[in-house]
Amino acid sequence: MSSITRRALVASAAAAMTAILPSQRPVLAQAPAPAPGPFVQPPLPFLEPQLAPTISNRTIILHYSRHHAGYFTALNALTKDTKYVSMTLDQVVIESDKETDRRIYNNAAQAWNHNLYWVTFKPGGAKAPSGKLLEMINASFGSFDQMKIKLKADTTAVFGSGWGWLAQDGDKLVVVPTLAGANLLTRNMTTLIGIDVWEHAYYLDYENRRPDHIQAVLDNIINWDVVASRLKS
Ligand SMILES: [Fe+2]
Repeated sequence: MSSITRRALVASAAAAMTAILPSQRPVLAQAPAPAPGPFVQPPLPFLEPQLAPTISNRTIILHYSRHHAGYFTALNALTKDTKYVSMTLDQVVIESDKETDRRIYNNAAQAWNHNLYWVTFKPGGAKAPSGKLLEMINASFGSFDQMKIKLKADTTAVFGSGWGWLAQDGDKLVVVPTLAGANLLTRNMTTLIGIDVWEHAYYLDYENRRPDHIQAVLDNIINWDVVASRLKS
């Protein structure tokens, strides 16, 4: 992110910051320092308050600086002095799955999932896809609304913690739910959107109303330009 863009984000978030309860601010200050290691958590592409009210400032802070950061801390500890330290994060996910190194796979996959998750969002995100992405959505689901209904229904139905994915499978788009930290890197599909339905992603804001959270995410904060850029030709 350029310094100009970052400054613009800071300026546009200033008003939103004034709405943050003082009791919420120390959470970030108390966040543990990232653990050293070869796998580094990327910065958020927005400021913590900027996705509210779809996702609150407090949820973003806890989700990013505790849960997501925690996967990197665990991954760096688990891979120390192993063959995995010389791999990319994608390669660690694929290789640890092959080798059935489950703890490494779980943490690597969750680190990867959240890397994709955060950059899919944009404050006041574009309201609808267009171009080739829209054509593929229409061909695969009938309409943009039907795609959202399918993605919401299948993601809501995940039993326990997991993810709902919109993915490209050849020339079609598909919805694929997965459990726990599993993703589609080992399934020869291109991941377009991942919706996190671990309770840490929504419970502070929506309590048990998982479908409301998914609907708000799809309606309000998806950056459809980023989603379109992930399509493979
Ligand atoms: Fe999460």
